[in-house]
Amino acid sequence: MIPPSGYLRRIIMTLTLVAVPLMLGLLLTYDVIKVNWASTMEDQPAVENQQAPRRSAPAEAVRFDGPSLAKTGELPVNPVPADAVSLERGAELFARNCALCHGAGGLGDGSITQYWKPEMKKPANLTEARMKTMSDGSLYLTISQGFGTMPPLNENLNVRERWDVVNYVRSLSQ
Ligand code: HEC
Repeated sequence: MIPPSGYLRRIIMTLTLVAVPLMLGLLLTYDVIKVNWASTMEDQPAVENQQAPRRSAPAEAVRFDGPSLAKTGELPVNPVPADAVSLERGAELFARNCALCHGAGGLGDGSITQYWKPEMKKPANLTEARMKTMSDGSLYLTISQGFGTMPPLNENLNVRERWDVVNYVRSLSQ
């Protein structure tokens, strides 16, 4: 069937109406037509990777990680009771995160230490009497922030898990 007269013209018109804005959009998108859009993005200091000074989070930033970064001098208070569940979880987490260095029983004889240079400081013996004098809060901060050559483990353990480990470590020196 031969299309009625003007039919083809209408199709071409319609396609042109659709195609022209589309093409224009694409030309702008791919910067074929360069437009100097108003942008304030580049008008800000660009801090290079690892460049000093290291900027801390703004005071009004919401902490998502519990009191691990508390710099107030106040020690966090243990909110998790040392019940059977917490101790069981703590033992499991200790085996996975601490035993490598501190040993399965916390004696400071973890399997990795045999590869350490003799002059390197050994992991603390967590069963010794000194541990009893450490508060839950400072144990928590030791795990969160590391201590001396011990790395911080706040990325391995969430807040609840750290307190479970604190409860478990506490039970080692009893
Ligand atoms: C990569 C090895 C390593 C891992 C993993 C590790 N520690 Fe340590 N830890 C050390 C070393 C080394 C020291 C001694 C650091 C020093 O005295 O400078 C230490 C010290 C400590 C101390 C004593 C801090 C003090 O004030 O004397 C505690 C408590 C402790 N670790 C708990 C833990 C717990 C709990 C975990 C697991 C959540 C853990 N550590 C994981 C290596 C490790």
